[in-house]
Amino acid sequence: MPSSTATVSGLLDTIAPVGRDGATGGYRRPVFSHPELELREWFVAEAGRRGLGVEIDRNGIIWAWWGEPMPGALVTGSHLDSVPGGGAFDGPLGVVSALVAIDRMRERGVVPSRSLAVVVFPEEEGSRFGVACLGSRLLTGLLTPDAARRLTDRDGNTLADVFAGAGVDPEHLGPDPEALARIGQFVELHVEQGRGLIDLAAPIAIGSSILGHGRWKATVTGQGNHAGTTLMNDRADPVVAAAAIVGLISELARARDDARATVGRFEPQPGGTNVIASHVDFWIDVRHPDDSVTRGLVDQIAVEAAALAASYGCDARIAEESWSPTVGFDPALGRALAELVPGAPVLRSGAGHDAGILAARVPSAMLFVRNPSGISHSPEEFVERSDADDSADVLADVLAGLL
Ligand code: GLV
Ligand code: MN
Ligand code: MN
Repeated sequence: MPSSTATVSGLLDTIAPVGRDGATGGYRRPVFSHPELELREWFVAEAGRRGLGVEIDRNGIIWAWWGEPMPGALVTGSHLDSVPGGGAFDGPLGVVSALVAIDRMRERGVVPSRSLAVVVFPEEEGSRFGVACLGSRLLTGLLTPDAARRLTDRDGNTLADVFAGAGVDPEHLGPDPEALARIGQFVELHVEQGRGLIDLAAPIAIGSSILGHGRWKATVTGQGNHAGTTLMNDRADPVVAAAAIVGLISELARARDDARATVGRFEPQPGGTNVIASHVDFWIDVRHPDDSVTRGLVDQIAVEAAALAASYGCDARIAEESWSPTVGFDPALGRALAELVPGAPVLRSGAGHDAGILAARVPSAMLFVRNPSGISHSPEEFVERSDADDSADVLADVLAGLL
């Protein structure tokens, strides 16, 4: 039964050790890894404790129902997977605050006029299979099941095998109009991942939009060779070429107002200290509020990277792995949230979210909770206990107002 003593900070404490690196304090909870599966089990148990009916759909999305599953329900939730070395709040804050918001609504005697579901999306971060918001993309048909099944993780495991191992039949992945029709409105609460709320000295904001963003894989190919016998002028070293390209990417992004470009994963192959690499793979994340600027920047990177690589005797190619256009949240739902959370500032998000994928198909909205460090995707990501606890009350206000 619902526990009136459960708090967001208390529940976050109970899952804090799961997937935590004792040395750095960062989290490693890739989708369907042991830690993420443990969190999914924990969520199912917490939902069961509250008498919510739990279903796992064909794409591995967990649904916990207050009321019967029905079309047009009010849906909230977030994700439990993390980036490598991530913080404690990115994803779990939205899931935990949703559970506690249900407790709060019940304590207040809220009688819902329609059903409410808390959802947990798999692979929001795309940190295992490279495609962000994979669960919501499959649900909405933005990613085909064939393309999904072919994805592999860093160890060469296919998504099909990993999903099967977690009990999600890969043959049944794909668009799910019936599940989608159950989402009348979607509200995702999330830790704020920048300095927006610090600068505004406010505890919670309403989301207006998400910057368009995409991921591209770059491969720079040279000539693998011996570190001792190959004279400097005889080399076609792809690490040197790729390092120059990374510098170029940063310069090109800095030259465009409001653009962001990141290389956070860089893998020389075969990767030996005394080996000149044969090729380097690295991944580029590019974002800008104007999709044509993002596209133009990536095109320029591709052209200039090829020329720069050639000057080192190497070859550079760039291939798109995922793309999400800039999306604005539903204006009517945004106005409803503004009435339910009076005085909350409105912020756009530089980070991607499942709410951004759903926004193209169903009215969606987001709430952002203050992060006093202003840092995210890092162990320094933070939410004060009082803000975490208050977030469930605010979410309860919003959900009760929309029910
Ligand atoms: C996820 O947080 C992203 O913005 O990539
Ligand atoms: Mn997130
Ligand atoms: Mn994230």
